[in-house]
Amino acid sequence: MDMKSNEIRQHFLDFFEKKNHKIVSSAPMVIKNDPTLMFTNAGMNQFKDIFLGNKPVKYPRIADSQKCLRVSGKHNDLEEVGHDTYHHTMFEMLGNWSFGDYFKKDAIIWAFEFLVDTMGLDKQRMYATVFEGSAQDNVGFDQEAYDFWRIFLPENQILKGNKKDNFWEMGETGPCGPCSELHYDIRDQIEIDEISGAELVNKDNPLVIEIWNLVFMQYNRKSTGELELLPNQHVDTGMGFERLCMIKQNKKSNYDTDVFQPLIQKLSSLCSIKYTQDEKSDIAMRVISDHLRAISFSIADGQIPSNVKAGYVIRRILRRAVRYGYTYLNFREPFICKMVSTLVEQLGEQFTELKAQESFIAKIIEEEEATFLRTLSTGISMLDKLMDSIKKDGEKQLNGTDAFVLYDTYGFPLDLTELICKENDLTVDIEQFEKQLQIQKERSRNAATVETEDWVEVIACPETKFTGYDSHSHNVKIVRYRGITTKNKTLFHIVLDHTPFYGNSGGQVGETGKLFNAQESILVLDTIKENGLTIHITDKLPQHPEVEFTAEVDSDKRKASAANHTATHLLHKALREVLGSHVEQKGSMVSSKIIRFDFSHYQKLTSDEISEVVRLVNKDIRANHLLQEQRDFPIEEARKSGAVMLFGEKYDETVRTVKFGDSFELCGGIHAERTGDIGGFTIISEGAISAGIRRIEAVTGEEKVEMDITAKGLIQELQAIFNTKSVLEAIDKMMKTNTELSKNIEKFSKEKNDIIREKIKSSLVEENGIFWHIAEMKFPVSTIKEIATQLYGEYPNIAFIATTAFDEKPGIVVMFGKKCVEAGANAGNIIKSVSKLIQGGGGGQPNIASAGGKDISKLVEALDAAKSMARDILKK
Ligand code: SER
Repeated sequence: MDMKSNEIRQHFLDFFEKKNHKIVSSAPMVIKNDPTLMFTNAGMNQFKDIFLGNKPVKYPRIADSQKCLRVSGKHNDLEEVGHDTYHHTMFEMLGNWSFGDYFKKDAIIWAFEFLVDTMGLDKQRMYATVFEGSAQDNVGFDQEAYDFWRIFLPENQILKGNKKDNFWEMGETGPCGPCSELHYDIRDQIEIDEISGAELVNKDNPLVIEIWNLVFMQYNRKSTGELELLPNQHVDTGMGFERLCMIKQNKKSNYDTDVFQPLIQKLSSLCSIKYTQDEKSDIAMRVISDHLRAISFSIADGQIPSNVKAGYVIRRILRRAVRYGYTYLNFREPFICKMVSTLVEQLGEQFTELKAQESFIAKIIEEEEATFLRTLSTGISMLDKLMDSIKKDGEKQLNGTDAFVLYDTYGFPLDLTELICKENDLTVDIEQFEKQLQIQKERSRNAATVETEDWVEVIACPETKFTGYDSHSHNVKIVRYRGITTKNKTLFHIVLDHTPFYGNSGGQVGETGKLFNAQESILVLDTIKENGLTIHITDKLPQHPEVEFTAEVDSDKRKASAANHTATHLLHKALREVLGSHVEQKGSMVSSKIIRFDFSHYQKLTSDEISEVVRLVNKDIRANHLLQEQRDFPIEEARKSGAVMLFGEKYDETVRTVKFGDSFELCGGIHAERTGDIGGFTIISEGAISAGIRRIEAVTGEEKVEMDITAKGLIQELQAIFNTKSVLEAIDKMMKTNTELSKNIEKFSKEKNDIIREKIKSSLVEENGIFWHIAEMKFPVSTIKEIATQLYGEYPNIAFIATTAFDEKPGIVVMFGKKCVEAGANAGNIIKSVSKLIQGGGGGQPNIASAGGKDISKLVEALDAAKSMARDILKK
């Protein structure tokens, strides 16, 4: 029997544990605090701080299985997924690391030992590639790696590779180095006898594939493109878990392993189409089962589909899956959400975040699918209309701009539009489509241009020490600085050896304050955390960066945001108490002014629930609980003692816990010393921000006091206006009276209109078969128009011209019966011409038109002019 994928993963971890590696869990797939990366795209991301020298090394040897997503930026495999059998958006990367410890020799020996001795792979089918060198980067052939591979492999199984394949870089800048890849040939022997695997390495052959990449990190790529040596040499290896499973389970496709088969079988039963029945539906099934994993893991890590940044990437992946299901598997109702339970059955033990949030993930996916399926069908009817009009015009091509709108707004990729057009004997103007796409790409590129200079090092310091829990000021030295230019504005990033400034993280916004000494003072506009660094943002650089400064946080703001942060914890607890334990924090923003708290819950909160939450939080405030804080607390102990942990957060091995009464959370934020310091709490709004996620906004302390004062003042003013304490009753009464009055007015004006109409009718003057009404009136234009409209129905040969002066405003209405219009009379034309006399503008139809104006003194003139224009036409 094949070895199960879960066992394969375990073998890898056990192997490296025996080689003294610390086994760590996967970091979240969604990245915070790194402006260059939205998703984890390699196992080494969570160790980037260490490679960059921003953080000291705690364990020199580490191994893990990391959730990765390659859908954007430098590493993007999205288009390959499903069409081949070995690329994925989300995959697990098995990795082992050395931080300044072992290097090429052990990395190569252990890779070989694991694959051949532990996994039983055939070394004759194995190929190693080695970096050939690059003159441009001034890096030579990797003889060292070659020599170590030669211990195990004959010359013809070691190949040279170029910079594209054998020099690994995480992004445009950052740690990098030459790499050696291991490739494996899984073709049948008969094919191997015909062509040697060596000829197929790195040639996109699905059966001769890379499985493991051993990167020897030696350099840092600077923003100028130059390489500089890293202070220490490291090893970063990454092995495709799903590919290893394919080889070990003797399959020819990743999708045939037990990692994907349960998902594919589930999908197949949902659509009643067999896998391997047809090429197109097979591709669709591979795409969907791949994408389901990407989407579910992202949601579990806190990234829900949305219209911006990482959320938009997830939304597009989800839509891609829906579209494949719609087009090739005939789904018209949400279906991906029905596969979540199968995924959880498979991976829920290994990745507990999936299991714990199973129904939340399914719910979010279901809503997204339903919305997109509606958009798809709107898009399809739009395309139908476009195709109809093209055919009507006798043309044969859909223009590229329309195809682009379908792509951009309705999520129709070009191939779907082409497919539908082809079924209707039409082509698509691809060139024009590409042009539009290019324009859009350039637009977003321009919008995102940020120029980051390289760091200027001032003093050596392995790690900034945060002193902000105990004080709001500290004597500091500048460690490094750099300039950042966005949209013609340059700001500066400054890193200190010590800092009392809290950098934006865990929802709490970054602190502001100043850096000063006897010579100068520089404002700190914000503090952020990036790749393990606490960065102070300023709009100028100190003149003497090498001297000592005092770093001082704005203490009023700190007090207010500390109170708000503590109130957020109390709110979280109160929500779980009132609504239930399904409430999970899904995001928060804590500033000195306001609290924003997002959480999972499916209905609108009733006003009773909101009141109850407010009551509970204020009760905790009055209880004046003391902050009980534990720093450097082992995470496992914190977990066992019931501290609230958030999904999608990257926690260290030791954490800080914060306890106020029964509220007990893992948190790095700045808090009040006692809950009483919060002063008071109230909710100012509650609403949905997406399917299954609600947002509460709340204020505390001074903000709440100000809000209470304003609200109280408003009520008092209303009481004075209505002259009663019961304002609501008074308003209710007033609204009822209003309705009554409106009804009466309507009734009276109808009666009045009837009287006027009858009066007009009896005063009509007949001349040559035309009934004339030419008069100065004193009603609103709208009333006269209404009466004229009624008369229009009764008299086919009426000529109605009325001026009016009502409420100091002049107006004029002209109406001709059907027969008069046929005879050439045109009310619109007359109004256009005579309304100028009363300094007005207006127009209308040939049968009825009206205008208002400003100059009441010219009404008589206007009436005469209109009359003579009408007579000129109708008397002919
Ligand atoms: N960083 C390398 C990769 O992603 C090895 O882990 O391929």
